[in-house]
Amino acid sequence: MVTAKEPKQQVKIGPTRLLINNEWVESVSGRRFETINPATGEVICDVAQADAADVDKAVQAARAAFYGEWSKISATKRGDLLYKLADLIEQNIDELARLETLDNGKPLQDSLGDLGLVIACYRYYAGWADKVQGKTIPINGPYFCYTRHEPVGVVGQIIPWNFPLLMQAWKLAPALATGNTVVMKTAEQTPLSALRVGELIVEAGFPAGVVNLLSGYGPTAGAAIAHHMDIDKVAFTGSTEVGHLIMEAAAKTNLKRVTLELGGKSPNIVFADADFDEAIAGAHDALFFNQGQCCCAGSRLFVEEKCYDDFVARTVEQAKRRVVGDPFDANTQQGPQVDQEQFDRVMGYIESGMRDGAQMLCGGNRVGERGYFIAPTVFADVRDEMKIAQEEIFGPVMSIIKFKDIEEVIQRANTTMYGLAAAVWTKDITKAHAIANNVRAGTVWVNCYDVFDAAAPFGGFKQSGIGRELGEYGLQQYTEVKTVTIKL
Ligand code: NAI
Ligand code: MG
Repeated sequence: MVTAKEPKQQVKIGPTRLLINNEWVESVSGRRFETINPATGEVICDVAQADAADVDKAVQAARAAFYGEWSKISATKRGDLLYKLADLIEQNIDELARLETLDNGKPLQDSLGDLGLVIACYRYYAGWADKVQGKTIPINGPYFCYTRHEPVGVVGQIIPWNFPLLMQAWKLAPALATGNTVVMKTAEQTPLSALRVGELIVEAGFPAGVVNLLSGYGPTAGAAIAHHMDIDKVAFTGSTEVGHLIMEAAAKTNLKRVTLELGGKSPNIVFADADFDEAIAGAHDALFFNQGQCCCAGSRLFVEEKCYDDFVARTVEQAKRRVVGDPFDANTQQGPQVDQEQFDRVMGYIESGMRDGAQMLCGGNRVGERGYFIAPTVFADVRDEMKIAQEEIFGPVMSIIKFKDIEEVIQRANTTMYGLAAAVWTKDITKAHAIANNVRAGTVWVNCYDVFDAAAPFGGFKQSGIGRELGEYGLQQYTEVKTVTIKL
């Protein structure tokens, strides 16, 4: 049950204006919008609402920094600034975690977990800053030919609300390590934590205009970034639907480079020969982690016929034990959905599952009288053609699907427009490799799930995205290759 504890007093809110050119400013229009605590439905505070005019101002600042001070700073110094930022985040980890939990609703333990990855991400790319190298190339004739890896320029970054601080890190760290400047728009549901990091960015000593942070809405501020003629690249994480709009905007304007990290409907495949306890716990976390609000959630749970009934029974037991409630309570495993819109969307999918004849074995209901809490929900006997097996639900709703053999499950796993992640649970190394090689997804986990590391690339096949984030691969999306040829 949701407890009525009031966390507001214990959380420092931080800045609520826009960060442009290292100054905290109101929006040009003077408009502000409210951000809501999803655990209570109450307003936390209001924040400045950026629009096209603010995007213009931020792009001008970012452009001036790109040609100015930032271009004169050495690669080593860029790395030092990123290390300094990581240190400052670490020093303020508790405050940032509380702010993330207040604005997003995720359990405090999960916010702290995210922050571990955030700090690691900034440090990982800090280390890369002075190790991005071109090549010397033996071309024909009396020439010396080499390549330089130069920054793309002014980068627009649009991030979602499910991992506000982590998505900020995934986008800022590689962009800054390689010498770009940034105009970032946060999600309208969760503007606060990124703005607090903005204060730390200024404190770390990044020159004015290198990082500009705008809070605001997608169709206004977000679209202004996607359409801007002086933004060289846009990096987006969010829905596949908006991913299409971003690419269309780039195509219609200046052909800015586009990287997209979009939705998923990731198959999580359990064979009867798996370690049963691990597979049950793993499948539970793969779906329910972060209130089910993960692009890579294991939302199509394929279970081999031979162990299906037993697996379903034990999975339902585990879902029933999941502790839903106050995200500031240390025992809580699941907080509220991020807002009313997501709550309604998820409840709509639950209704559609029942209408389509899937068997609902637990959950399906709201928890508590206020906030956006949904009970962990398990559907069994889900068929491939049902809406809950095809569309991204982004909530605590598990769909269990029966399969017979490996050929069949590979074919069914691939019958989707998505290709973000997949997993397989088995002790048979041959089956594990068959799944790893033949399921079309950007990430495949074997006997594990949601293992993330700043060094390991992440991104989608098919309509789950374009490009990769993290790792050395992530750097390529933030550099242009220049070929220089010199006559000898
Ligand atoms: P969304 O794609 O609308 O929002 C993500 C970001 O894009 C936010 O910053 C938003 O302001 C911005 N945005 C929205 N419309 C835009 C536009 N026309 N131009 C530029 N930027 C725009 O996602 P939303 O509405 O928050 O959630 C809808 C569904 O999207 C979710 O139920 C989930 O299925 C999926 N989603 C996937 C995420 C992922 O991690 N891949 C993250 C968030 C949502
Ligand atoms: Mg939207």
